[in-house]
Amino acid sequence: MLLPPLRLKGKTLHLPIIQGGMGVGVSLFPLAKAVAREGGMGVISSACIDRLVSKRKGIKLNTYNAIHEEVSMAKADGGYVGINTMVALVKDYEDSVRGAINAGADAIISGAGLPLGLPSIQPPKETALIPIVSSARALELICKKWERFGYRPDAVVLEGPLAGGHLGFKIDQIDLESNKLENLLPPVKDMAIKHGDFPVIVAGGIYSHQDIVIFLKMGADGVQMGTRFLATEESGASCEYKDAVLRATQDNIMVAFNPGSPCGLPFRVIKDSPMFVSSCSQLRKPKCDKGYVLLKDSDGTYSRCFSKEDNEKYFCICNGLLSSAGYNTLDEEPLYTVGANGYRVNKILSVKDLMDELKGKLEIPTRSGTHPDLLRIPVTTSLSTKTRSKAIELDP
Ligand SMILES: Cc1cc2nc3c(=O)[nH]c(=O)nc-3n(C[C@H](O)[C@H](O)[C@H](O)COP(=O)(O)O)c2cc1C
Ligand code: SF4
Repeated sequence: MLLPPLRLKGKTLHLPIIQGGMGVGVSLFPLAKAVAREGGMGVISSACIDRLVSKRKGIKLNTYNAIHEEVSMAKADGGYVGINTMVALVKDYEDSVRGAINAGADAIISGAGLPLGLPSIQPPKETALIPIVSSARALELICKKWERFGYRPDAVVLEGPLAGGHLGFKIDQIDLESNKLENLLPPVKDMAIKHGDFPVIVAGGIYSHQDIVIFLKMGADGVQMGTRFLATEESGASCEYKDAVLRATQDNIMVAFNPGSPCGLPFRVIKDSPMFVSSCSQLRKPKCDKGYVLLKDSDGTYSRCFSKEDNEKYFCICNGLLSSAGYNTLDEEPLYTVGANGYRVNKILSVKDLMDELKGKLEIPTRSGTHPDLLRIPVTTSLSTKTRSKAIELDP
């Protein structure tokens, strides 16, 4: 099937494919630029971007300027480029948003917590504001809050439990039938229609052209994909990381929680990633020298992170992910995240070949067929996710 374009805040993406933002350092300008050139939206992750871009350029840049640099580089050949900012990275959140808007990013896609205040940070000009949710209830809360700022989402990303990175579900709700992406979609679509009929972009476990077609036929307006773009030549993952994805089996991709992410959300990992293995035996002594996850203490100083004090329940996600992108590899072990379908990756492709495959132009054989969960659609529309976290606000 010929994939239809996606309309976003008055702009037209040739393909309804958004490359998911992937921190740390996996989706920087080389990946985003390549995706934008092929007619999708490339998305730069703002996580730890100041360190990564400063290292590449050999001059010290803050978050705001590093985002400016990456957006300009990614848009150099035309096409659409967005920024992914995680609510959980409280300290740098507002600078990331301002940097993205002032650099002319086409979208800010924001999750890992509810981006309730996003439109109030700065008027977004031409930048589309796109929250990431895992339930219709979360979308409703965001729409109601944003109404007070006179803004409605320009689109929403609905991310289901098969995604890579942090998951917006309680650990015991990840496998619920009602939380399968195909079951979350109908109520989220209804909610988007109720609040102005903006596009719904689905994410989590989408792997092939056929998967895209299935979700478009179910009513989605586009897809966001991470794992397939992680396994490309242009992604910023280290060679060791890409090799670990190629070696991964279905059994050694798991959701980590206790030990888990200090952001308080379940986090999908390759089980034998060195930092995860060490953290299961508490081999790494707590040490905080990056500070991206820090929360404010009672004095208003950014000083609190669970993994700073407790190496039994939390790993040091800043250092683990920076190491996966080739940063400080001599000092810190890498932590590899991937989507549940990562075991199907059998080749590192160029973005061009991947986009041709996703468009339906090329059929690339994979290690196995469609994820079993995607074979069972359409199903019900009911949904109830009550999720709360110690660290940040989650989908209610
Ligand atoms: C390596 C990796 C890093 C990710 N980092 C982030 C991130 O920093 N912020 C975010 O909102 N989502 C992140 N995600 C989620 C993706 O943007 C995307 O929504 C998700 O991976 C889609 O599921 P899929 O991997 O099955 O395609 C990450 C995913 C992967 C695989
Ligand atoms: S302890 Fe680690 S994860 Fe927490 S803020 Fe410091 S460097 Fe980041």
